[in-house]
Amino acid sequence: MDRYRPRYHFTAPRNWMNDPNGPFQLNGEYHLFYQHNPSKPEWGDIHWGHAVSRDLVNWTHLPYGLAPSHERGEIHCYSGCAVVDGDEVKLFYTSIGEGDRNATTGAEQWMAHSSGRDLRSWHKPDINPVLTLNLHGETYVQDWRDPYVWKETDGWRMILGGIYEGKGVAMIYKSEDLENWSFIGVFHQGEEHIWECPHLFRFEEDKAVLFYSPSGQVRYMTGTINGDKLTDVQMHGTVDFGGMQGYYASTGFVDEAGRRILLGWSPEEARGKDFLVNLDWAGALALPRVVQLKPNGAIAMSPVPEIERLRGSHHMFQQLRVSSTKVDTDLHSTSFECLLEMDRDALGVQAIIVSLFASPCGREHTDVRLDLVSNKVTIDRSSSSLFPDVNKTPVEGNLPQAEGSEPVKLRIFADQSMIEVFVNDETCLTARVYPTLEESNGLALQTSLSEAVISSMQAWEMKAADIREE
Ligand code: FRU
Repeated sequence: MDRYRPRYHFTAPRNWMNDPNGPFQLNGEYHLFYQHNPSKPEWGDIHWGHAVSRDLVNWTHLPYGLAPSHERGEIHCYSGCAVVDGDEVKLFYTSIGEGDRNATTGAEQWMAHSSGRDLRSWHKPDINPVLTLNLHGETYVQDWRDPYVWKETDGWRMILGGIYEGKGVAMIYKSEDLENWSFIGVFHQGEEHIWECPHLFRFEEDKAVLFYSPSGQVRYMTGTINGDKLTDVQMHGTVDFGGMQGYYASTGFVDEAGRRILLGWSPEEARGKDFLVNLDWAGALALPRVVQLKPNGAIAMSPVPEIERLRGSHHMFQQLRVSSTKVDTDLHSTSFECLLEMDRDALGVQAIIVSLFASPCGREHTDVRLDLVSNKVTIDRSSSSLFPDVNKTPVEGNLPQAEGSEPVKLRIFADQSMIEVFVNDETCLTARVYPTLEESNGLALQTSLSEAVISSMQAWEMKAADIREE
């Protein structure tokens, strides 16, 4: 195993992965599919990889779920979703072909269903395609992909991402039998060029949170479903500030316990084309997150609690005095979690800096900087790696306005090349880093100006998840 492969985040056994697709849970078992090139660690020949889990932490890789049907002119199986309909599961995805069936003008929406009760093999029936662009009549739709299907009281709905009259959009369709679909119209439209991977979580009283990936940071809107449109947008926010540097193309599902679970792809774009280590894999999943809706329409996100089962040796610090000279801790791992709680007042007008993967010589370190004056949190990657060509631009996010004297909770997950940051379960940042020195590990603390007292800091070395092939 190379030093960059995450140990408690999901990765494909080898070669390329991008978006998570069609997650669902049935009879206790979680299923995950993902965009996968089975023969190279780079994008191409897109299949759906498949894995199962009992806890969203430990996974068993299965043979791929969908492969392009070359005899039917198909060359890629793009992103999509799964629908559990009684005991049968249907996968909806965008089928890309050569020539007229390319991504921009001729993408088609296809369906596959489980051909056995074990949900290990999937069949594409002859009724495909279930949707073609022809059905829009004269409507000007450019890109069109990534179906997400859910049930309303009067039948099924599907939203598709793409471009409509030059702007990013989610278009909506309906069906009574999941086979015959009709176009309803625009569910919601934005200012961006394209919306990829739209999906939503439905809440009580026709409230919904719509998520979409506009070729950058994943965004969400909380609004009301009103006659097949999303209206009365109450909140428009960023799911994760990582974008192509760490978090993109999310999708979601409701599990058997009723939790709304969000999964996102952690791209490897920061590695760059000329990465000096030969790796046989690319791409990971960020930790699955439980999503809740706050009264103001913002979403709260925290990693599924199951991940805590991987917590190993525990480091606990109370009333920790931190100053502008870096203090090292006795944690020297490259896979760990850390949780810091502090009073806003104790920090005053300065920033707290948590250094991750720092080398004793000081040449390598990745700094998470929390600044309550400018209300920003940053993953500073400028010294994260001695490799000259990896991307070291900062990943920066805005903190929500503080509610009174509410304490600040900073939770960081570090895992080989992954850094995931959660501030008060509301602001999330994910970034990738590629340190080069053997001794770049662990956790150190510093303030920007003068001494401050951190009420409590805990850290856990994380054990590796059990991710194996069948
Ligand atoms: C998002 C995306 C999707 C598409 C898939 C192709 O990362 O571009 O829109 O379905 O990846 O792999």
